[in-house]
Amino acid sequence: MNIAVIGTGYVGLVSGTCFADSGNKVTCVDIDEEKVGKLKDGQIPIYEPGLETIFARSQREGRLNFTTDIAEAVPEADIVFLCLPTPPGGDGQADLTAVMQVADQLGSLIDEYTVVVNKSTVPVGTGDRVEAAIADNVDEELFDVVSNPEFLREGAAVEDFKYPERVVIGTGSDRAAEIMTTLYEPFVRSGNPIIVMDRRSAELTKYAANAMLATKITFMNEIANICEKVGANVDNIRRGIGTDSRIGKRFLFAGIGYGGSCFPKDVQAIHHTAGQHGYDFKIVDSVMEVNNAQKVSIVKKMEEYFAADDFSGKTFGIWGLSFKPETDDIREAPALYIAEELVKRGAQLLAYDPEAIGTFKQATTQAVLDNTTFVHDQQAALNDIDALVICTEWNEFRRPTVDNFADEMKDPVIFDGRNLYDLKRAKKAGITYISVGRPSINVN
Ligand code: UDX
Repeated sequence: MNIAVIGTGYVGLVSGTCFADSGNKVTCVDIDEEKVGKLKDGQIPIYEPGLETIFARSQREGRLNFTTDIAEAVPEADIVFLCLPTPPGGDGQADLTAVMQVADQLGSLIDEYTVVVNKSTVPVGTGDRVEAAIADNVDEELFDVVSNPEFLREGAAVEDFKYPERVVIGTGSDRAAEIMTTLYEPFVRSGNPIIVMDRRSAELTKYAANAMLATKITFMNEIANICEKVGANVDNIRRGIGTDSRIGKRFLFAGIGYGGSCFPKDVQAIHHTAGQHGYDFKIVDSVMEVNNAQKVSIVKKMEEYFAADDFSGKTFGIWGLSFKPETDDIREAPALYIAEELVKRGAQLLAYDPEAIGTFKQATTQAVLDNTTFVHDQQAALNDIDALVICTEWNEFRRPTVDNFADEMKDPVIFDGRNLYDLKRAKKAGITYISVGRPSINVN
């Protein structure tokens, strides 16, 4: 099929590349000339495992092209994907400016039947607005607007795209449903479902999925907080409940809160949408509140441990800056908040991340930059520090094991926001180890 992808952000680039990889001819459009120039040269602006190889192959074989001119891509296309940014607006609702600007142009570019697909996470009812905007300039018979929410995870985006657990298609049109099903069939050969539903339900499905997952994590974070009070271990609770198939094993890992570009924004947006329709979605309100507190909960533990709220003269190592492993994305990353809180208390920082130092520097405050030394290997972040704070569970932090802290640090004190290490080993190694929802080790 001939596909146009409008917007080469995270979702657009991954979707465009994966559709090209499965044999379609894809033209990606972006208004950012510099970005398009680099993409034409084979330079990918994001770090995503597996993307580079299929990007290079599809580009070499002529199935993946880039342009700044929307009129070069849309008239040829059977399907036009809108993968545009929908950042949180001032009122907590997703900002649809980019989506609507493109929708306004589409009608005059369509001259044969075209499926216009919204892949961006958009408020319920956006499909109707996009449809009306296109219909201003072209006959309604010549297009359908479909909602096809994207569930891919950063760091596993290519894998998730190629082998989705489900594909959700929201449309009332049999013709559009048929075309979309044909497009996605190669991705669900293992038997996973393509679920066709009405458009509004598809739009809401995306928010419901993310709000449910954010709630699941937050629920476990609260259980962890209770564990700390009653002397229980959240790892045991996780195993004890995760084996119940109604609950499931995944997304039960307690830590210093969820971050990223999706959960925080989508939880806020579904709360807002509910409010607009006169419904007070109480549970997600609590999720937001608990998660914000959870992000800096480790700083409270540091204050308790050092019996001080002034950290002047102390240096802390930080392992991990991205909001999760395998990405350089630092949006809403707990490390941003933790660094800020530590510097506010007078601390100096020694920070390491395998991928996210550059993005972190761009996003953090001047105060943090002035008081942080960024180092390029994990050992260097242990030099002469008073304590190490682990903010992201990159695999390389799991090895060397706890035993190595005793070798590398004079008086090893570890605050682990991601529960990486085994408590018995930490005890044996003689390190001070404070994690989330588990008993503290070697603390008097
Ligand atoms: C998420 C959804 O998973 C994806 O389906 C959607 O399309 C976009 O949002 P992503 O933001 O890439 O994807 O990250 P994800 O792997 O889901 O993790 C989100 C956050 O939750 C991270 O900060 C992670 O550290 C945290 N998390 C996850 C936990 O704290 N505990 C867990 O058990 C799982």
